[in-house]
Amino acid sequence: MFHVKQSEKQTPNSAFGVDTPLARELADLSARRRRLESVELQFAGDARVLTVSNQKGGVGKTTTAVNIASALASFGAKVLVIDLDPQGNASTALGVPHSADTASIYDVLIDEMPLADIVQQSPESESLLCAPSTIHLAGAEIELVSQVAREHRLRRALDQYLSENPVDFVIIDCPPSLGLLTINAFTAASEVFIPIQCEYYALEGLSQLLGSIQMIQKHLNPDLHLSTILLTMYDGRTRLAQQVADEVRSHFPNQVLDTVIPRSVRVSEAPSFGQTVIAYDGASAGAIAYREAAVEIASNGAPDTHRTIASGQTQSKEN
Ligand SMILES: Nc1ncnc2c1ncn2[C@@H]1O[C@H](COP(=O)(O)OP(=O)(O)O)[C@@H](O)[C@H]1O
Ligand SMILES: [Mg+2]
Repeated sequence: MFHVKQSEKQTPNSAFGVDTPLARELADLSARRRRLESVELQFAGDARVLTVSNQKGGVGKTTTAVNIASALASFGAKVLVIDLDPQGNASTALGVPHSADTASIYDVLIDEMPLADIVQQSPESESLLCAPSTIHLAGAEIELVSQVAREHRLRRALDQYLSENPVDFVIIDCPPSLGLLTINAFTAASEVFIPIQCEYYALEGLSQLLGSIQMIQKHLNPDLHLSTILLTMYDGRTRLAQQVADEVRSHFPNQVLDTVIPRSVRVSEAPSFGQTVIAYDGASAGAIAYREAAVEIASNGAPDTHRTIASGQTQSKEN
């Protein structure tokens, strides 16, 4: 018995003809990185507004929201992330201050402050913007109940913002609940983007989420639809992860991206440096997978008004 210590930074020693699973994995990773280098995306038309939602906590919503946003920005898109979770994890990962005295999405939703007054630029990129959340947002769920047009407040603020500050993508990071904050996201967005963690209870609660989407479609926002599902925290060594992935794909053949996001230490380390994994370690398996997923999102399902042209090919890996 021996262990091969896996380092994402190691490179295969092909000169010595080493052919091990690790060497193959690393060679595959560098081939995928080279393919990504040749991808060019062009963005035009109206903003696509995606809400990253799943009422389960810890499934990778925030990680997905910030890394897809950063990956899209790395391909030249202008992206606004709206942090709608009182935890403020998306603001942290984008390196954007969000202490209690920061003007935040709370002020937009409750006091009708213009979104433009709270949007900050992430230090990562000029084209990566963030509407931060602060701890005050924790009270908004209750404060919104008595507000006029309580389900439409984010939509109104966003429409106003976009009329003066065009962006290519708006990505909303939702809290783990189906309360008024998430309803505001569903009303403001046209696409729902669900990250699913490849573990045993993955599909539990999904029917409740789909039911909520249908309710919103019927009563508040007929444009809303489930456009994208991303399998996250995939561990290719376990049969369970493969089974979950197969099951999700069989239920949602048109929505699940080919790319899966591997479980990766780099991905979980990045936020503690106030960075996305794209900035923290762009050559890591997690960063490459998120960039591939971003290419798929940009290329797939773009409505007619928003054409995205991908030249060059990315090939999604199978685990
Ligand atoms: N691909 C991944 N590999 C390893 N850890 C991950 C991965 N994606 C997310 N995590 C970690 O899992 C935890 C939950 O992720 P998070 O994005 O905060 O979920 P949510 O926003 O749904 O609550 C975080 O600690 C995050 O760093
Ligand atoms: Mg979160």
